[in-house]
Amino acid sequence: MQFVGRTTLSKFVIENTRGQHSEMGALLIDVAAAVKTISALVGKGVLSGYVGGANVINVQGEEQKQIDVISNEAILRHCEWGGQLAGMASEELDEPYPIPEQFPRGRYLLVFDPLDGSSNSDVNVSVGTIFSILERDAPGNAATSDFLQPGRRQLAAGYAIYGPSTMLVLTLGKGTHGFTLDREGGNFLLTHPDIKVPESTREFAINASNERFWEPPVQRYVSECRAGKSDVRGADFNMRWIASMVAEVHRILMRGGIFMYPKDSKDPGKPGRLRLLYEASPMAMLIEQAGGMASTGRQRILDIAPDALHQRVPVLLGSKEEVERLERYHHEYDTGTDRPFESPLFKERSLFRS
Ligand code: F6P
Ligand code: MN
Repeated sequence: MQFVGRTTLSKFVIENTRGQHSEMGALLIDVAAAVKTISALVGKGVLSGYVGGANVINVQGEEQKQIDVISNEAILRHCEWGGQLAGMASEELDEPYPIPEQFPRGRYLLVFDPLDGSSNSDVNVSVGTIFSILERDAPGNAATSDFLQPGRRQLAAGYAIYGPSTMLVLTLGKGTHGFTLDREGGNFLLTHPDIKVPESTREFAINASNERFWEPPVQRYVSECRAGKSDVRGADFNMRWIASMVAEVHRILMRGGIFMYPKDSKDPGKPGRLRLLYEASPMAMLIEQAGGMASTGRQRILDIAPDALHQRVPVLLGSKEEVERLERYHHEYDTGTDRPFESPLFKERSLFRS
């Protein structure tokens, strides 16, 4: 009886989508059902039969695990039938998924990364599902171009984190709210209403093995954090790297911090690691709705107009003061104002060379 009377995810969604977007409310309840299926599978570990085992290479040129494939199937099957959707797009599918003939069509578009950070499932570390809902102008069959909308047009965005507990964190454009799965009761219960990211932080997250490939403004920022008290920051910083974006963003929503997957020169064909439509944009909306910021260093992530379904972007997100500082460092680098003034008269071949 202890949970009776608490706000369930279904109640929250129905109350907050009544009227214009009630169909989207029904869709979100199916997304939550898919998340419960994935949570149950991931929670069984190797006993599910899907964790570990052989891998194939997916459309992104990355390893696709059996658990990625089955999680993708779970979302497609749970969400295709309801009549709310014009199409779906997934990290695991090269092209958008058309709604099968036998089902009615709606005007919403669902995009998702079914199992983000899935290499972590082999080592029993948190993984997650990221999703976003966009709208098409009319019900029908969505084309790729329908999905290519800037993130500020998202109607809803969220993620599920499969950790020691399973949580679903959601925004419908009015704050960011966290729900915890009560496994026995089978309900997501509102446990973290109106999450706020602290504006200041002393914790950063980045894959530091890429340091030599970063641009100078990111190198400057990270070296100042590492120098801590002894340098311009005047305070020591802590570092974290889980290699699971969902877990990283969740930590930032809970206690602040900054997450960086910046542009690097490791693979010149890739202007970043993370995908705009189903990783960066939904996380950016959740972080902004919680009072944080999300930027490439040069542009607000939610303002980027996508030109491809699987487009990658640099991502710097989290506590406002730190993202602002990083944007300033990019600006100073781009305008040359981060370099001390050097008079040509004192250069190597100058008249005054000693
Ligand atoms: O999907 C991309 C992702 O797995 C993120 O979840 C994570 O933040 C990142 O890649 C990890 O990257 P790396 O392998 O460079 O640590
Ligand atoms: Mn991913």
